[in-house]
Amino acid sequence: MKTVTCTAPVNIAVIKYWGKRDTQLILPTNDSLSVTLSQDILHSKTTISAAKEYSGDRLWLNGKEEDITKNKRMHNCFRETRAIRKAVEDKAAAAGQPIELLSTYPVHVCSENNFPTAAGLASSASGLAALVFTLAKLFDLPSDMSELSRIARQGSGSACRSLFGGFVAWEMGKEADGSDSKAVQVAPETHWPELEALVCVVSDAKKGTSSTEGMQNTIQTSPLMAERLKVVPGRMEAMKKAILAKDFESFGELTMRDSNQFHAVCLDTFPPIFYLNDTSRGIMRLIHEYNRSSPDGKIKAAYTYDAGPNAVIYAPKQNMREIIQLIAHYFPGTDSDYYFKDTYGVLGGAALGENYLPAAHTSFEEVIPVHPVGSVSRLLHTKTHDGPRVLSEKDSLLNEQGLPKRTAQV
Ligand code: DP6
Repeated sequence: MKTVTCTAPVNIAVIKYWGKRDTQLILPTNDSLSVTLSQDILHSKTTISAAKEYSGDRLWLNGKEEDITKNKRMHNCFRETRAIRKAVEDKAAAAGQPIELLSTYPVHVCSENNFPTAAGLASSASGLAALVFTLAKLFDLPSDMSELSRIARQGSGSACRSLFGGFVAWEMGKEADGSDSKAVQVAPETHWPELEALVCVVSDAKKGTSSTEGMQNTIQTSPLMAERLKVVPGRMEAMKKAILAKDFESFGELTMRDSNQFHAVCLDTFPPIFYLNDTSRGIMRLIHEYNRSSPDGKIKAAYTYDAGPNAVIYAPKQNMREIIQLIAHYFPGTDSDYYFKDTYGVLGGAALGENYLPAAHTSFEEVIPVHPVGSVSRLLHTKTHDGPRVLSEKDSLLNEQGLPKRTAQV
């Protein structure tokens, strides 16, 4: 039996992927670009073991066994990684070298997120990236991340970007077989450490349209989407330039414009798709007011929203304390401990609350009402960080029999 455990990070796009030109191979209609967030705050952890004795492939997600045969996207990842391993085994056999025939062994996969799935945070990107990275380590595959990203892409498009830390582009490619549709690192996390992020978990009881379904409806029905596809290439270039120059002014404006355009094409889809709610829009207004109040007129914070109501606010470190106080004032939480953990010491020991809000910013109340308690249920302060990590044996989610150590959700 061979067992490997790894973690992979969440990424949040600043130029959004929305639309496929090939739904089987998961080939996108445009390039996209994302920032990888710290695994200390958000990650998926996966243990995979391979053994001759197992009766078949099995999968446990967040402590619950799932029917692996129904998961076509995971199957794509198994098929691709096993094929590369098989080629390595064939080569070794031809050269007369001994090698374990891991590609023929059934596998047990156990995966968990360190954040509650109920929080509505995207988990498919980190989950599928963790799966592919762990399979690659299990099978001792050559660790070219862009190569692996082509496999992760076939699990979930955005997963390909979670194989790198820092700032990551997914190049859409031109080939029909997807061989040039892969992720590349634009800059490592060490390039711009001052860039931080605040994830605002917005409570929303409704279950929205999935990204997979939503993006194809957009492709089929939105005339505005054709316009978006003309705009994205220029934006990609400008975004890369902004990142390399650590130019937050350009980075912030492009981020907000691209998020807004993505939600505009959602509204232009027929029937329309609504991912934002009143709280999401309240946060957008707050960030614009905050930027308007900037003494030198420069952008101090930028929001972005994926296929749901949660906001991710990117900002330079020096503005983060003020932004957290602002959000805490206009979108008060229910339980201060659950609401915000000061992991990086941004509040310097201070508590959340209006007593700490800079007086100038209470004037926003004319345009933004103080929202009901709990409309933002959780704040996660985080930053740009590294790509997938290999953990030690003691971190394994599977026991010696290859069964989950825990069966309840963590
Ligand atoms: C709005 O990667 O979840 O988060 O490829 O169908 O699995 P599939 O979709 P998915 O879509 C993510 C869309 C997005 C934007 C982004 O992450 O770029």
